[in-house]
Amino acid sequence: MNNLDQLLKDAAAAFAAATDINALEQVKAKFLGKSGSVTELLKGLAKLDPEARKEAGALINRCKKGVEDFLEARREALRTAQLEAQLAAEALDVTLPGRGMGTGGLHPVVRTQERFETLFRSIGFEVAEGPEIEEDWFNFTALNTPDNHPARSMHDTFYIEGAKDVLLRTHTSPVQIRAMKAHVARYANAESMPELRIIAPGRVYRVDSDATHSPMFHQVEGLWVGEDISFAGLKGVIVDFLQRFFETDEMQVRFRPSFFPFTEPSAEIDFAFMSGPNKGRWLEIAGCGMVHPNVLKHGGIDAQRYTGFAFGMGLDRLTMLRYGVNDLRLFFENDQRFLAQFQD
Ligand code: DAH
Repeated sequence: MNNLDQLLKDAAAAFAAATDINALEQVKAKFLGKSGSVTELLKGLAKLDPEARKEAGALINRCKKGVEDFLEARREALRTAQLEAQLAAEALDVTLPGRGMGTGGLHPVVRTQERFETLFRSIGFEVAEGPEIEEDWFNFTALNTPDNHPARSMHDTFYIEGAKDVLLRTHTSPVQIRAMKAHVARYANAESMPELRIIAPGRVYRVDSDATHSPMFHQVEGLWVGEDISFAGLKGVIVDFLQRFFETDEMQVRFRPSFFPFTEPSAEIDFAFMSGPNKGRWLEIAGCGMVHPNVLKHGGIDAQRYTGFAFGMGLDRLTMLRYGVNDLRLFFENDQRFLAQFQD
């Protein structure tokens, strides 16, 4: 039956011409729908006598099966093409490695602070805190720097608009006063007062900004008050700390006479490595001295009976020296490429 072969060819061509599933389903109706050409042929069988019907029926059914096979093959091809187009459009490359979950890390200055705390805790110091928005009295007056004292001009202070006698602390030294007051209060009813040994790390603020100064930077205050506390003790603590912090005995440390209103005598601490890239260069690292009797008094401590030493060290500077960083600003720009280098 030539017309059946023709019909099959026509169906194949019509299916091939359909470029999407919707169009294909419409073309399908032309052949297999209620009044489609294959269906019409099958209807025509009723007019034939039984013998001829059987023969024609078999041929028509084979033709119908052929049409259905072409239809299914085209459907499959269109589905695959649609999926591929969708995958290409979404551009999802499932073979790429996953992005993973980044692990966070500690900021290098925080690392230094933790190292500092560990080393001082090991010799009996506690960690104390004070507010960054501080009262003028704690920041200056109680530290033997009354109003109009010329030493106030050593600090370029951020004052707070509209708030009288309140400022951003210019150093961690006010924590000395707060810690002494708290200590005295705690042992008010005791027979004798135990020694006070604290360090106070934290942020401080000054109007200053260049490669080695940032308007916000970090200091650690140290304070040891008790009977018979001496400058010799201060020297021992500082030298031991620097050697342990930098993990080398190959260094010289010097105490250079200086002035701070809250200590008497006062000194500046410099040290120099005896090997390595900074060999022989004196590096300024801290201010220190014996706590001035007026400061002890403001902290509520009997200056006849007790003495103490104090120091203030730059945490950012310690970090720069330990890791060989030469621009302080890098610490505060939050560039991941820089910070990621300090992760374990
Ligand atoms: N507070 C001083 C500053 O920021 C540093 C300092 C010097 C702290 C001597 C001290 C000290 O405790 O005894 O410039």
